[in-house]
Amino acid sequence: MASTVLAQPAVAAEDELAKETSTLTVQDTSEAQLPPHRSHDPQYNMKRSDPFQFGSRYLQEEDNVFEFNAWDHVETDDAYKEYAEQQYEMQRQSPVSDFDKRRFNSDPAKFWNVFYKNNTANFFKNRKWLQQEFPVLDRVTQEDAGQITLLEVGAGAGNTAFPILAANKNPKLKVHACDYSKEAVKVMRNHEAYDTNVMQADVWDAAGEDLPPGLGENSVDVVLMVFIFSALSPAQWEQAVKNISRVLKPGGEVCFRDYGRGDLAQVRFKKGRYLEENFYLRGDGTRVYFFDKDELARIWTGAAFAKKENAAEDGRESMEPQPSSSLFDIEELGVDRRLLVNRARRLKMYRCWLQGRFRKK
Ligand SMILES: C[S@@+](CC[C@H](N)C(=O)[O-])C[C@H]1O[C@@H](n2cnc3c(N)ncnc32)[C@H](O)[C@@H]1O
Repeated sequence: MASTVLAQPAVAAEDELAKETSTLTVQDTSEAQLPPHRSHDPQYNMKRSDPFQFGSRYLQEEDNVFEFNAWDHVETDDAYKEYAEQQYEMQRQSPVSDFDKRRFNSDPAKFWNVFYKNNTANFFKNRKWLQQEFPVLDRVTQEDAGQITLLEVGAGAGNTAFPILAANKNPKLKVHACDYSKEAVKVMRNHEAYDTNVMQADVWDAAGEDLPPGLGENSVDVVLMVFIFSALSPAQWEQAVKNISRVLKPGGEVCFRDYGRGDLAQVRFKKGRYLEENFYLRGDGTRVYFFDKDELARIWTGAAFAKKENAAEDGRESMEPQPSSSLFDIEELGVDRRLLVNRARRLKMYRCWLQGRFRKK
């Protein structure tokens, strides 16, 4: 079973894999020598629809798993589940030291700054899947969509913001792209497509006390959060969700994608990386959490925090959250599972992401 797990990658490589393989088949260099696979020819590929639709390649009993390099919606097998549990136990036994916990939790933006200083190549990816996965992005970029304010939280190098602007036909769309790493904001501001008439990149801590520069309460139509919530510690979730709720208009929508529990990136963490349950320190000092679907729903509805508030008010633990704490309606929340196969090395890699749309009450 150990052969299914690859070495711990740097965050850049890991996130590239997470982001881009979520909709694209893996570009495995070890396969570059192989002739084009028949999966690319609709004549032979019964698993393929034309035009190609991601998410539709189901692995069935008669299939040879090593025939194609990615399969959709694949549940992990028992051997992998057992292996994952063993890994979690090993990780718990060797946590990050208290000294390092303080060091890495006290100023996490510092490590993202180093990340954006060091990784100047391969930043920009054309995320063609955005509009497909989040139809609201298609709607707000139509010519006649009217005045729209879109906020991207934890925008990084602008991998989401710039493709949206490239596809935009709405003259009244304004994109605010915020990140608490000043180096990330520099990268966005230096991008050739950066134009302050349509975009504003700012430093903003999503888990801080303030709203983003230039944005007031109830001023935003759509919030985008792509692999940012996992960078927060569990202690920051409540403040972040409340900030997003404050800045969104009633009825406004959050488009969310992030790591899911049991993802390969979680399972392969080695000793000395465990911060707390499902929360880890990467080799470059950045942090990452792996979410469970129900947990995420409790966070965004506010139920996860209602318990705490009730307990504080009553001086006892209340079992049921109060409806007054409800922040967002969960319009959609799905687990995106993918089995990636390295056919040359006969490795199986299970990826898992959560994707959802949450609407402010
Ligand atoms: C994995 S990267 C994702 C970047 C971008 N969303 C993407 O998908 O390419 C996580 C980003 O979240 C930012 N981030 C982490 N914590 C944050 C916070 N509290 N407030 C704002 N940005 C934060 C990091 O600086 C980093 O740019």
